[in-house]
Amino acid sequence: MAGNWKMYKTPAETKAFFDGFLPLVAESKHCEVAICPPFVNIPTAVEATRGTRVGVGAQNLYWKNEGAFTGEISGPMIKATGAEWVIIGHSERRQYFGETDATVLDRTKAALAAGLRPIVCVGERLEEREASQTEAVLAEQFNGGIAGLDAESFAKIVIAYEPVWAIGTGKTATPDMAADAHRAIRALVTAKFGAEAGAAVRILYGGSVKPDNVKNLMAQPEIDGALVGGASLEAGSFASIVNF
Ligand code: PGA
Repeated sequence: MAGNWKMYKTPAETKAFFDGFLPLVAESKHCEVAICPPFVNIPTAVEATRGTRVGVGAQNLYWKNEGAFTGEISGPMIKATGAEWVIIGHSERRQYFGETDATVLDRTKAALAAGLRPIVCVGERLEEREASQTEAVLAEQFNGGIAGLDAESFAKIVIAYEPVWAIGTGKTATPDMAADAHRAIRALVTAKFGAEAGAAVRILYGGSVKPDNVKNLMAQPEIDGALVGGASLEAGSFASIVNF
């Protein structure tokens, strides 16, 4: 269960979140839990979660280790803060910041080289779903991106299926729709990396996951977890999701 805070919260607000959140998930041992705050809050989050089962992640990274790249942050820098995870290829990065399948692959390789655990996002836009292009779009994103990893690297990533039309809109994919997409992704993984990899890869669903719909989504064997935006910002609501 991963929380994507997007561009929300200050360090003080981050500290307050964990003061409320950690006691609520202290006994939650059935899943891994991670919070991905804005970069500037990572040290506060790492400090707050030290000695707990809650991990911390970034929301992006650049693929060079260092250099004259004003405004960018590298994998080794994130790793050095004590963060463990990094979200890559979120649809907001694709839509607003020029992310492509090729740069998703570059970032994923860089994250793995730095010892971070990538959560790589894929998902179709509304017009693509309406044109019955969902599986074709997922195939394009997979084949143009993370299919370029070697098998050993691929085994270390988590995939997040996030239909763009469900993100921040309050429209969740139905559990069946999400499971269909997850099956399609798993088939792509199987075709490229073999049946064992297809069975093993963890696929999170993301897009308006809330305390009241998480249980039905998680009832689908295809759905291994959730990537949660809005509902991860409040301690009680994200704890309810973790403890579905
Ligand atoms: P949402 O965001 O839960 O607010 O829809 C999900 C995401 O963008 O990861």
